[in-house]
Amino acid sequence: MFIKHSTIEKKPLLLLVLIIITISIGGLVEIVPLYTVETTIERVEGVRPYTPLEQMGRNIYTREGCYLCHSQMIRPFRDEVERYGHYSLAAESMYDHPFQWGSKRTGPDLARVGGKYSNEWHVTHMIDPRSVVPESIMPGYPFMMRELDADDVEAHLETLRIVGVPYSDDMVLNAAIDMAAQADPEADHEPLLARYPKAVVGDFDGDPSRLTEMDALVAYMQMLGTLVDFADVQPADLTQ
Ligand code: HEC
Repeated sequence: MFIKHSTIEKKPLLLLVLIIITISIGGLVEIVPLYTVETTIERVEGVRPYTPLEQMGRNIYTREGCYLCHSQMIRPFRDEVERYGHYSLAAESMYDHPFQWGSKRTGPDLARVGGKYSNEWHVTHMIDPRSVVPESIMPGYPFMMRELDADDVEAHLETLRIVGVPYSDDMVLNAAIDMAAQADPEADHEPLLARYPKAVVGDFDGDPSRLTEMDALVAYMQMLGTLVDFADVQPADLTQ
């Protein structure tokens, strides 16, 4: 065996051909099965595309580079699960383009921050983090109280549709209406909730007269990690 191998090693061309054949077999075994499945992501109940307002908030999150200090990816380790909640599932970010998993935690993970604080807390914290967390080193974003520039919201949904997010024609057509309705406590929320179950509605920035970047960002913060119901998979259940 070893003698035969040494003859191969002495013939570079033969060695190269055999290496290529070996690697190809490995490659085929790994890659070919992927063509036979529609998706490698296990579907999970509750995951839906972002509402237009949440998506606009997500765009601001991406624009400001929040991912440079915050991850959105809870790893399946005990310390992380105890601090942040159930570990992240692939399906939870299946409609994320681009994903915001991040790789650095200067601040805490935000994958399940939805519902942790009130809207008011978020607004105060975003304007001046040190007014609520004195030791915070997070920068303030007071300029987010400006008007939300979202004339092109339909185009955002249509573009996401091209990369595979299942926005229906109905969702694209009603994008502007849904966006306004989500941030208006007086609006009729039924059509919005029919299209986007569990959408959090309300006046996010404390100023119902205007639709601001803050409205969009806080709407996005408040939905993070709230779509999937983990009630029956909590670690505590294992002891029962
Ligand atoms: C320079 C790093 C840095 C950047 C950039 C940053 N943050 Fe933070 N963030 C922190 C730190 C540190 C904390 C923890 C202290 C605090 O609560 O302010 C934090 C806390 C938070 C919290 C509270 C999380 C919790 O569970 O208590 C939220 C929400 C948040 N940041 C959102 C954002 C958003 C949205 C952006 C982008 C607009 C952003 N952060 C940008 C560092 C940063």
